Amino acid sequence: MEKLIIQGGTCLQGEITASGSKNAALPILAATLLCEGPTTITNLPHLQDVITSIELLGSLGVEVGVHQQHKIEVDARRLDSLTAPYDLVRKMRASILVLGPMLSRWGEANVSFPGGCAIGSRPVDLHLQGLEAMGATIVIEDGYIRATCSGRLVGCSISMSTVSVGATENLMMAAALAEGTTVLENAAREPEILDLANCLNAWGARVTGAGTQTMAIEGVASMTGGDYRVMPDRIEIGTYLAAAAATRGRVRVAGAAPWALGAVLAKLRETGARIDTGDSWVELDMLGRRPRAVSLTTAPYPAFPTDMQAQLTAVNAIAEGVGIVTETVFENRLMQVQELRRMGADISIDGNTARVQGVVRLQGAQVMASDLRASASLVIAGMAAEGETCVDEIYHIDRGYERLEEKLHHLGAKIKRIPG
Ligand code: UD1
Repeated sequence: MEKLIIQGGTCLQGEITASGSKNAALPILAATLLCEGPTTITNLPHLQDVITSIELLGSLGVEVGVHQQHKIEVDARRLDSLTAPYDLVRKMRASILVLGPMLSRWGEANVSFPGGCAIGSRPVDLHLQGLEAMGATIVIEDGYIRATCSGRLVGCSISMSTVSVGATENLMMAAALAEGTTVLENAAREPEILDLANCLNAWGARVTGAGTQTMAIEGVASMTGGDYRVMPDRIEIGTYLAAAAATRGRVRVAGAAPWALGAVLAKLRETGARIDTGDSWVELDMLGRRPRAVSLTTAPYPAFPTDMQAQLTAVNAIAEGVGIVTETVFENRLMQVQELRRMGADISIDGNTARVQGVVRLQGAQVMASDLRASASLVIAGMAAEGETCVDEIYHIDRGYERLEEKLHHLGAKIKRIPG
């Protein structure tokens, strides 16, 4: 297993360019299954989860042409298989996103039932209930979700009891080719939902209200396909800004979408950082000072994102004062804490709340990545710490950060990848 070796104590300085959003790219790749004509996706991040999605499309018989690193053409005119197999779903839970589009276009879909994962149990009940409300018959058999419908799915009104990004996306895509209009209430409002809606509309769907709690999807008989450029990755950008704050540095991210970073920028400002934004860039300058600890509670957009919680916990670990971090979206997402403690962080946990008493110095240590964002927090802590940090199990990082070492290197970090 590869590892990252970080020599801490460097103040990050400079400019990098944001990659395309992982969480927008994955549903957009699934949405290609809705289209009768070819689709071209650009600004696609080169990440393990994207490679897994492309493998999944390939296993269904979809023609995928990778033209340049960040651009692919997908032709889903015909499929050879309607089954998303265990081996691919096991690697990436977001494989569930093919369920809605495959069912809607071909009247059948079989998807291996996704298990829980390190950060929580992550059920898919809302995805299944919504599809059933649209007329699908769903059985769970041999570890697979087997969904069928006779004729087209039928639009209806669906009110989701919990705000779920994945369920909202799956149901938007299923509704795109349904008969009549589907109204989704209590829909997720994440920027990636808006990006998916823009993409669906560019490819022939009729989605309105994306980015609000109530979305209407007027079903169309067919979707043509076309081109789409994936939005910048707000979590990647937030991670580099948090790294700048923890190392008292100054980092500008180009190719960004600052509008999608509201709650994250507000918290980073509270640390004492100066933040400037333009239409497509954002810059954080810690002015050489130690950050102040901040308190935060994660919740669905537009509140503070759970995907940035671990990174801000790392900033708090080295900050001045006490930060109270409460995680409300996933039940088991404070796993970075025990590894941060190995680096000398002073953090206590009570249920889903971490009390972080900032320390003046973190010490490099051997730590293990447990999930994608927890891994990022260990890299941040390693750069802010004294001495050497070795982060193990970094395949998690490769699922969600494109060229992480190269970008950090460019900002002056001393980081290298070594074989395990
Ligand atoms: C997506 C993101 C992930 C992010 C999360 C929350 C992708 C590929 N992943 O994950 O990075 O951390 O949103 O912003 O976009 N739930 C149910 N029943 C369901 C579905 C979800 O109870 O059928 C619960 C989950 O257990 C969780 C909460 O809803 O507690 C939110 O999960 P959800 O928004 O669905 O997360 P994902 O779409 O899996």
